[in-house]
Amino acid sequence: MNKISSAITGVFGYVPPYVLTNKELEGMVDTNEEWIVSRTGIKERRILKGENLGTSFMGIEAVKGLLEKTGTKPEEIDMLICATVTPDMPFPATANIIASEIGAVNAFGYDINAACSGFLYGLVTGSKFIESGSHKKVIVVGGDKMSSIIDYTDRTTCIIFGDGAGAVLLEPNSEGFGVLDSILLSDGAGAEYLHQKAGGSRKPASHETVDARQHFVYQEGQSVYKFAVTNMADVSARIMEQNGLVAEDIAWLVPHQANKRIIDATANRMGIGPEKVMLNIEKYGNTTAGTLPLCLWDYESQLNTGDLLVLSAFGGGFTWGAVLVRWGISNKS
Ligand code: UT7
Repeated sequence: MNKISSAITGVFGYVPPYVLTNKELEGMVDTNEEWIVSRTGIKERRILKGENLGTSFMGIEAVKGLLEKTGTKPEEIDMLICATVTPDMPFPATANIIASEIGAVNAFGYDINAACSGFLYGLVTGSKFIESGSHKKVIVVGGDKMSSIIDYTDRTTCIIFGDGAGAVLLEPNSEGFGVLDSILLSDGAGAEYLHQKAGGSRKPASHETVDARQHFVYQEGQSVYKFAVTNMADVSARIMEQNGLVAEDIAWLVPHQANKRIIDATANRMGIGPEKVMLNIEKYGNTTAGTLPLCLWDYESQLNTGDLLVLSAFGGGFTWGAVLVRWGISNKS
């Protein structure tokens, strides 16, 4: 009997309609289009506007589209994982809110907090349930409403992040499609450089924490950049080496969209040309857990059955990793 693998059999995404351009940011902080584009590659990002709308709103839209596209009934879903650092509330899990809203009455689920690597962590853990044979249809959502934790007076962070979510459906496959290998890593020492100071159990919300603007992303950009550029490139090269692959074997690099310069360095290290690198940072910025499924969604029409993809990411924690996938989707939009 062939080994059961976890194939991605559907992908869908959602980005909110409001476009925050570099020009608009020029009117908010001391920055300029030239700096933002040359240092990050970002031209615009999407922002979720509207009362009482959290990450679940975008996740629900993405999952609704996914179910419709793949002809899947909500009650067939066994499990739903949501990777996010901007849950609707500290508890319950945003995964539970999404599952309930879409009618996935037979699913269990939970959130994964692994920042920009969250989708990779979710993809790998969801796949284990498929590979074990215990679950047949697993949805992995990656999404963040970063605008809810961004300080729009801080020019070093507000130019980078945006809002968005994507979702994939995982199903068993016996023809060798889906997740083939993965490397996931983390190092809590990275918290020093990228974190949110207040709002957790160590420093609950108070008037003082609000006045001190401690509920926003704190990032030491240069330090994070150094770790990101080395680790994302290293792990991407390592997954190729341990599978005996050379650049010609890889159809696409699917990189986390944090900074175009980090993406270029990763591709260079792998020996992969720009024509094989998925890129949408220009229009969405860094949507944290949303970047990878949104890339797959944007580029789906260019993917062919059998293509080998390397998905890689680096983010808060620190967390990082790479996943090797053989594309075998049958539900192109
Ligand atoms: O996805 C989660 C993981 N996060 C990342 O991977 C982010 C990693 N870091 C980065 O992508 C980059 O460090 C940033 C994009 C955040 C910053 O780029 P940088 O090239 O590292 O800039 P820098 O922090 O070294 O700043 C260079 C200069 C500074 O001015 P001085 O001190 O040289 O006069 C900054 O004050 O650029 C200044 N600066 C800006 N200027 C115009 C910083 N932000 C801005 C801005 N507009 N928005």
